[in-house]
Amino acid sequence: MKKIIIDTDTGSDDAVALLMALREPSVQVVAFTTVSGNIEVNQATYNCLQTIEYADTYRPPVYKGASHPLYCAYENADQVHGKDGMGDVGTFKKPTREAEPEFAVDAMLRLLREGDGDIEIFAIGPLTNLAMAILQEPETMKKVPHITIMGGGLPYNNPHTVWAEFNVMCDPEAADIVCGFGVPFTMVTLEACWGDMRFDEADIKRFRELNEAGRFCVDCNCTAIDLARRVHGEGSFDLPDPAAFIPLVRPDLIRTSFESYTRVDLKGEHTRGATIFETPDPSFMKEAFGQKHHEPNSLIVTELDGPGFKQYLWELLDRR
Ligand code: RIB
Ligand code: CA
Repeated sequence: MKKIIIDTDTGSDDAVALLMALREPSVQVVAFTTVSGNIEVNQATYNCLQTIEYADTYRPPVYKGASHPLYCAYENADQVHGKDGMGDVGTFKKPTREAEPEFAVDAMLRLLREGDGDIEIFAIGPLTNLAMAILQEPETMKKVPHITIMGGGLPYNNPHTVWAEFNVMCDPEAADIVCGFGVPFTMVTLEACWGDMRFDEADIKRFRELNEAGRFCVDCNCTAIDLARRVHGEGSFDLPDPAAFIPLVRPDLIRTSFESYTRVDLKGEHTRGATIFETPDPSFMKEAFGQKHHEPNSLIVTELDGPGFKQYLWELLDRR
């Protein structure tokens, strides 16, 4: 049984990942910690509590976390998630509980301190909470065996900046603190969520035909789906956070990955927030130019098996 704390900026794709995690029998979600990202942290917390109701399994505690990035201005992603982060549907089931009173960073550190060094972190929002935990109690955070992150990417036309994926771009200083800290991590980049990982109209129909949970998964993503209909004439959407769940539970579905010493650019006028991947390149060039070699700190996943991912997701949703 893999124990995880899920750190989330619960927007619409996070919601599907949370639901998957709560339904995956090989995973125990110890707690959810929320952070401002897709939407500000109070709404993200409400969305998280609401999603737990649709998973209809067990109800881990939810702790509200950082409302703002460490240093930079806060920028949300309501363009693709809706003003409430969940497609502005407004008719979803109400949460049956409140968030716990303890601040998320304190709760994360307490749970790790009390644990047996077997609690991993699954981070699917900006990394502000994790960075704050590292700054507050580095020795406790060293107990984390592994961190799985949805984040980063190769240069592409992200709606926010050409170079930076949203979770990293939202709080680059936090992301670089986590990358440079020393706990090994897997980073599932935005490239891993495209291609045959994307859901089309036929897939949307299949979600709807499944059950209430299936309908919830597409309804909360309706802002992104409607955006695709307006732009491309056909509804479609991708699910980065569910994609990032795959290395935790179905590593057989990883198609392309590479080891890397990964950091984040903090100073580039155009490249701030870009993830910088230094592969363990044996070439003599490093010697020739006296480049310092860094041991890999991460596994970067850039491609997943789309049909296998979709089959796994639908099986999880169908389990009730
Ligand atoms: O870039 C995609 C990531 O940013 C996802 O985690 C999405 O939910 C947003 O947080
Ligand atoms: Ca997210």
